[in-house]
Amino acid sequence: MTSTLELRQYTHDDLSEIRQTLLDVHDDVYAAQMDDEFNQKFPWFVDHWGGHPQFSCMIAYEGDKAVGFAYGAPGTEGREWWREHLDPAPEKTRTFHFSELMVRERWRKTGTAEKLHRALMAPRDEDLAALLVDVTHPRVQALYESWGYRKVGERHPFPDSPVFALMLVDLPLP
Ligand SMILES: CC(C)(COP(=O)(O)OP(=O)(O)OC[C@H]1O[C@@H](n2cnc3c(N)ncnc32)[C@H](O)[C@@H]1OP(=O)(O)O)[C@@H](O)C(=O)NCCC(=O)NCCS
Repeated sequence: MTSTLELRQYTHDDLSEIRQTLLDVHDDVYAAQMDDEFNQKFPWFVDHWGGHPQFSCMIAYEGDKAVGFAYGAPGTEGREWWREHLDPAPEKTRTFHFSELMVRERWRKTGTAEKLHRALMAPRDEDLAALLVDVTHPRVQALYESWGYRKVGERHPFPDSPVFALMLVDLPLP
């Protein structure tokens, strides 16, 4: 199934072109959880992340169909997600905030998610990548551990957001 998969990279300048695609994949992946107010805020998050001048997004296509995506942007120096959790700070601190990853159900367990992640990270020149994963999703956390991430703390960024495990990996990826 993944043989015809094509990965394409997009930037901040492409946001208007890809915005609806991201929303469509999200609405499919989270269809059963759209009564959750946090999930309903996804368009706001797309505009927030896509508004970053160094936003980077990889979308996987099978033919014309977008089957999944991964995106993020560099963290602001001094305000990286790990700042209040790591003392002393790591020696090298430039951090890419890996904000979103999702793949439509039919393309799960096909390696598509890992390909998206690797492709998103390959051109990065930061020292670290950081992500947040819902603490009630230990299997997703285990997946990220298998990709080299380690948990360094927990965060609850918004009152209506889940509690997240904060995970870090050194770049380039192992
Ligand atoms: C995360 C994702 C991209 C990984 O895809 P993948 O590499 O093909 O891996 P899988 O889909 O097999 O997921 C790995 C494990 O996490 C579990 N999992 C995935 N998404 C989950 C979710 N939203 N909630 C709870 N568990 C989840 C899977 O059931 C699987 O468990 P298993 O190992 O016991 O079978 C894909 O599962 C997905 O799109 N999930 C929904 C969106 C999501 O949760 N994104 C991550 C946000 S941090």
